[in-house]
Amino acid sequence: MTDTPKKTSPSSVGSPESPAEAAKRLREEIRRHNDLYFQQDSPEIPDDAYDRLLRELQDLERAHPELALGSPTTEVAPPPGGRALKEVIHDSPMLSLDKALNVQEILDFEERVKRFLGSNESFGFYTMPKFDGLAVELNYDQKVLVLASTRGDGRRGEDITSNVRTIDDIPKNLNQGAPEGRLFVRGEVYMEKEEFSRLNEEREAEGLSIFANPRNAAAGSLRQLDPSVTQQRNLKFFAYGLSDAKMAESESYGRLMEKLGHWGFPVETSKSSKVNQNLAEALAVFRDLEAGRDNLPFEVDGLVITLDDLSLWDRLGATSRAPRYAVAAKFKPRAAKTQVLNIEIQVGRTGALTPVAFMEPVLVSGVRVAQATLHNEDELKRKDVRVGDYVILQRAGDVIPEIVEVDLEKRPVGLSPFVFPKICPICATPAVRKEGEAVSRCPNRSCPAQIEARLIHFAHKNALDIDGLGQKVAAQLLANNLVKLPSDLFKLSAQDLKALPRFGEKSALKLIEGIDQARSKALWRFINALSIRHVGERVSQILAEHFDSLEALSKATNDQLQAINDIGPEVAKSLLDFFQSPLNHHFLADLMDPALVKPSHTQPLTEGLLSDKRFVLTGTLNTMTRAEAKARITAKGGRVLSTVSKETDYLVAGQAAGSKLTTAQKLNLPILDEEAFIKLLN
Ligand code: IVH
Repeated sequence: MTDTPKKTSPSSVGSPESPAEAAKRLREEIRRHNDLYFQQDSPEIPDDAYDRLLRELQDLERAHPELALGSPTTEVAPPPGGRALKEVIHDSPMLSLDKALNVQEILDFEERVKRFLGSNESFGFYTMPKFDGLAVELNYDQKVLVLASTRGDGRRGEDITSNVRTIDDIPKNLNQGAPEGRLFVRGEVYMEKEEFSRLNEEREAEGLSIFANPRNAAAGSLRQLDPSVTQQRNLKFFAYGLSDAKMAESESYGRLMEKLGHWGFPVETSKSSKVNQNLAEALAVFRDLEAGRDNLPFEVDGLVITLDDLSLWDRLGATSRAPRYAVAAKFKPRAAKTQVLNIEIQVGRTGALTPVAFMEPVLVSGVRVAQATLHNEDELKRKDVRVGDYVILQRAGDVIPEIVEVDLEKRPVGLSPFVFPKICPICATPAVRKEGEAVSRCPNRSCPAQIEARLIHFAHKNALDIDGLGQKVAAQLLANNLVKLPSDLFKLSAQDLKALPRFGEKSALKLIEGIDQARSKALWRFINALSIRHVGERVSQILAEHFDSLEALSKATNDQLQAINDIGPEVAKSLLDFFQSPLNHHFLADLMDPALVKPSHTQPLTEGLLSDKRFVLTGTLNTMTRAEAKARITAKGGRVLSTVSKETDYLVAGQAAGSKLTTAQKLNLPILDEEAFIKLLN
């Protein structure tokens, strides 16, 4: 870390700066920004301002070559994109957890499990706090730490081995009794609250930007190119599992956690981490932990409730997103109070007119919040938020800030209700509000605001995740006609970008690199990037599990779409409309052009044994429910359809099979009884 002052003034009154002084000031300034950008992941100035500093120094050095020794202008430039941590592919994907946002959703979780297993008994649950840090995987070979990686997007993370070696909590060698072969331990790297305050105080005193919460501080400290920075940060670790629970050779999660402790890993041992006989007991743990969360030395944002019996983990399996045998029960968000300064109407990528409140910035559970969506006209009316009101703010699911209500007692006199516009504030087209819908829309798909919003969404973290393409850059690309459709991004060159006013060499290369990486991102990201109504992240993931390319999806029929669990008539219609609309013709042609993009079709949990085989189920199976049978087929790459046809590969016939069996017999299809079906699965 540098210890140069935050701001060195260019010149003091009366004594003009000499070239040598100016060069020294610029060098210090540039080095400080290099450090902020590359080492601390928290730049203070935009790239173009950085480029101006660099150019100023270069000009000065050209005029006074004697000043050019040992300058950042002659040092090797750091890699574009800023990060040089190596990529690590996880052998088995690091999934996330389904969330339960209230007690009902926790009860729903147990109901889902029961339905899936076709069982009415009650289960034992292991509970453990949900640590608010960063998931990591530690690989051991012969009991020696050989590789450590971040979760990344679950499939690909970053190599953080040298940084992890500086964390005292993490064993470099395992105790006796630990497995001799390869072992993949998963857990959370976190920062204690006290260390977080200490670090921020120190940074503030040094004039550095402060971290918003312990989680960000832990992440920033771990993803360092220089391990000595990580070492100074005093990070901690809790283990919570293995990449494959079978490695522990135990029957329960509780025993697995004990073993991790014996092998040398720190495991959480407060009264919240324990085996519970049933869900009622787990709920009591949840309430206690929520009431006492502030007494813990580290941040927790919920309680992870997991079936204790590992043989049930096997049966329940996982979707491509999360295991079915665990749930993250989240705490109620923390609230804060602030004043509304303005209400603006924003036009979204589907034309939705959304009122957004801009507020006096305030910290809500550690994060600075200055704006919140009011969703739509009805919500705005219901909450009756007015400019000047004091409001209670929460962060729902600990991410999205939300205005819960107006503090009417503090309402200043004379505030008038907000009047919702009848026209699009950007293109003035009359807004349309369909019968039964809460949202008013600008119907003009060529409205500049919609085009810009679609471009921003295309690059969004949950879509193609292109770094450096935010609102400002999007607006600039459109204004200069470099991009008309989001897919035009794939035709840009660094040269094109460098010609733009605010772009420098570094920012141009960085964006081009981000775009190049996007070309081969997972198919679901491309689907989400299309901005189809009703098709968000989750639906995109489901669709990507059923279609292996955009082309295949674009040809899907209404029946094929609706045969998919979770895809209803509304979503299907929206997809069909999108793919049939001539307006999307060029856009789609680009995205199906293998010379421009090559989406990767990741079906992580698929072993592919039944790859693309079509199954139809009929009758009752004795050892598993329909849902379980279906999940086990899809987990191996097969598909389950509802009607028997010539195309069916197998009919699975349980007891009391009906007309489907007769049809299959007529068509001479392979018919599996339960025993044969299980054999095939295994
Ligand atoms: S997973 C499946 N346990 O939550 C049963 N995850 O996993 C194993 N996380 O980003 C339990 N605390 O880093 C588990 N006690 C905990 C956790 C935990 C935090 C994070 C994890 C990941 C996300 C989903």
